[in-house]
Amino acid sequence: MSQFSYQDGVLHAEGVALPAIAEQFGTPTYVYSKAQLLQNFRGYAAPGKGRDALVCYAMKANSNLAILDILAREGAGFDIVSGGELLRVIAAGGDPGKVIFSGVGKTVAEIELALDKGILCFNVESIPELHRINEVAGRIKKRAPVSLRVNPNVDPKTHPYIATGLKASKFGVAFSDALDTYRAASALPHLDVVGIDCHIGSQLLDDAPLLEALDKLIELIDTLAGEGIHLHHLDVGGGLGIDYGTGDNAPVAIGDYVSRVFARVDAWRAEKYEGKPIKVIFEPGRSIVGNTGVLLMSVEFLKPGEEKNFCVIDAAMNDMARPALYQAWMDVKPVTPRAGSTVTYDLVGPVCESGDWLARDRELAVEPGDLLAMMAAGAYGFTMSSNYNTRGRVAEVLVDGDRFHLIRRRETPEELFALESIVR
Ligand code: LLP
Repeated sequence: MSQFSYQDGVLHAEGVALPAIAEQFGTPTYVYSKAQLLQNFRGYAAPGKGRDALVCYAMKANSNLAILDILAREGAGFDIVSGGELLRVIAAGGDPGKVIFSGVGKTVAEIELALDKGILCFNVESIPELHRINEVAGRIKKRAPVSLRVNPNVDPKTHPYIATGLKASKFGVAFSDALDTYRAASALPHLDVVGIDCHIGSQLLDDAPLLEALDKLIELIDTLAGEGIHLHHLDVGGGLGIDYGTGDNAPVAIGDYVSRVFARVDAWRAEKYEGKPIKVIFEPGRSIVGNTGVLLMSVEFLKPGEEKNFCVIDAAMNDMARPALYQAWMDVKPVTPRAGSTVTYDLVGPVCESGDWLARDRELAVEPGDLLAMMAAGAYGFTMSSNYNTRGRVAEVLVDGDRFHLIRRRETPEELFALESIVR
């Protein structure tokens, strides 16, 4: 059940009416539901109870400290892509020993930091990166646990910008090169080759491509075992989609997907390894936080036109980039629906770009001053926001039952230029 629902004609997050949040903290504001966050995370964690499994939340989706803290206390690990994200995990009380470090361009400084903090594993994406990690580890007298991100070349059937496991993608090691790359890794003196991972894309509604990728990883693990390279973990990546209200097929339920992964892994281990288990890691981002958040915004002006009617809102592409970047369709609901006839509007923000739209051709009955909520905006919303047009990043609020808490205050304009200096 969604934690965002109409109660007495007003959209609520759990037990809190959204207008109460707008009144206290203004708009635009991201509003998250703690109950929804826990429900999603537990969907991944529950089927793995009692076995060697770890859910490493891909924090690029939403890295607010309050969110990380809640997940860390549930036992989550984290999938990071920068040194900055590692420092966030630590600031939120997360365990660096449950952190995996992904990404194609890890710097020397980031590798050093990660080794120093004792992360679980580097997900390595190329041979030069293997050498770099080996050199840094040797210099600071540490051993570096590594896993190779392998490209299974499975078509995830998603938007090309968020398909990441195809041959033409910048990510990972090609399946055909994987064996040689593993051989090269095991020959390096300061590396421990511990795992394998993949990530084929994002917003996958069907889990068939994910399970196909899993089968290819399994095949590779067997081949490696034949060469004396024994892996301790299998990281199936993230990628499960959410319901954006587009009317497409519903995404597969988290628990169903996770159970299917375990069933395959168990059958394989029983057949080939006398049931000896292998650690299974998941790296979900969107499916943990996507439907936990809405972007609350206000109507500024209505601007009727010959070809288009515009509803000018106070949120813009800098606050939520997904429509402008991926032509993503995001559902927008009136917080307090009005009776009366609707008009077809494009919802546009105040930023000076024609690409600054958040929704197109929506039937709405609205007046200036009304509140709107962009639904399922909790993933890749705030984290991809920017200060374009010297717009401060918006506030973030966490709802917990009938209470709500500011978890990031709105940035002030002065803060946006405080780091700059004038040269005369
Ligand atoms: N692991 C790796 C290595 C990744 O690259 C990603 C996402 C994830 C895990 C988490 O994937 P998820 O479970 O969230 O699908 N900004 C885009 C999505 C980019 C995804 C990038 N990688 C969007 O707003 O649709």
